[in-house]
Amino acid sequence: MIRRPEVLDHTTTPDASMIVHRRDELQQLARAFQGLENGRPVNPVFLTGPSGVGKSLLAEAVTDRLVRGTSDELAVDIASVNCWTTRSRYEVTFEVARQLVGGARLHHDSTPRLDLLDRLQSTTDRHDPTSQRIVVLDEVDVVDTDVLYDLADLPSTSLLLVSNEARSFLGSLDPRIESRLSVGQEVRLEPYTADELVRILEKRVEYGLEHDVISQRQLERIARHADGDARKAISTLREAAEAAQGRSQTITNTLIDEAIPEARERLRQENLAKLDPHQQVLFDIVDEYGPVSPGTLQELYEDRMGDDAKTQRTTRRSAKKMVYYDLLVARGEGPSREYAVATT
Ligand SMILES: Nc1ncnc2c1ncn2[C@@H]1O[C@H](COP(=O)(O)OP(=O)(O)OP(=O)(O)O)[C@@H](O)[C@H]1O
Ligand SMILES: [Mg+2]
Repeated sequence: MIRRPEVLDHTTTPDASMIVHRRDELQQLARAFQGLENGRPVNPVFLTGPSGVGKSLLAEAVTDRLVRGTSDELAVDIASVNCWTTRSRYEVTFEVARQLVGGARLHHDSTPRLDLLDRLQSTTDRHDPTSQRIVVLDEVDVVDTDVLYDLADLPSTSLLLVSNEARSFLGSLDPRIESRLSVGQEVRLEPYTADELVRILEKRVEYGLEHDVISQRQLERIARHADGDARKAISTLREAAEAAQGRSQTITNTLIDEAIPEARERLRQENLAKLDPHQQVLFDIVDEYGPVSPGTLQELYEDRMGDDAKTQRTTRRSAKKMVYYDLLVARGEGPSREYAVATT
């Protein structure tokens, strides 16, 4: 049934032969970075769109392309940080320095943040037009925004900011940094159509499964239930194939119908495992007391965490991201907003 499990694994970067669509968007992104060829950093570039539409995939594709080189005149170095797991000002700066300067002389926690920034500054030559850097901040909407000031000031450095909502993210920033970022270009990815998802699935079937184990109609069925999200579609295919493995010759409709909620649940468990201790506490509180208002959530969280508690603003951003990751649901707007745990 399954020939190559990694082809059905949404966490591994697919081989170029399995990437379809997004040609125009990749072109748009490449154009946004074309200015690097003039030896100057470009304005921040935003890559936005809902979950599973290929943002992380495209960020990697465009930076790969730039590293491999558009011309001999330009050398591009990349640092790529996922802010969902690396978000504090220090952690992000450390990670960027580790990737761009090299880790050997940097010591986590003992090299001060300002030294890291000095190191980043001193290893670039702002007068050398042939050497440029790009810092990719994926899931930037949960980053400690202070780090954006630091990074935006580095010489020969351009930013690629990947998030689900550029606008709402910008709205929560200090006006000084907001004005610097709002000049940036935005490349927006729309949810995939069911037909586009079928095409993505066909490639996974071709490279990952035995021949003739799933029909076109069944791929359409999976695609229709994936809400434009390629991760959901690929995970549903994997779930159905795993269930069929060793049990039947082909993937049946019943297995697909069962795989749809199971894939959602598995993705939710994966997201739950990525929560940091603070977010875990927030999730547990909503689970125990929900539905809760943002104010009550913050109070209960502060009761539990004491002086270690993060600000209301951080809580709000974490809760929003948990809604995005299908862990919580938000009901009502403004003063009547409440969070509850998402159920299948
Ligand atoms: N056009 C495509 N062709 C092939 N595979 C794709 C395509 N778009 C997305 N995928 C696959 O779907 C999954 C989700 O894509 P990706 O991780 O890039 O989404 P995302 O927009 O970054 O989502 P999130 O906001 O949740 O991080 C990945 O496994 C990716 O390889
Ligand atoms: Mg992503």
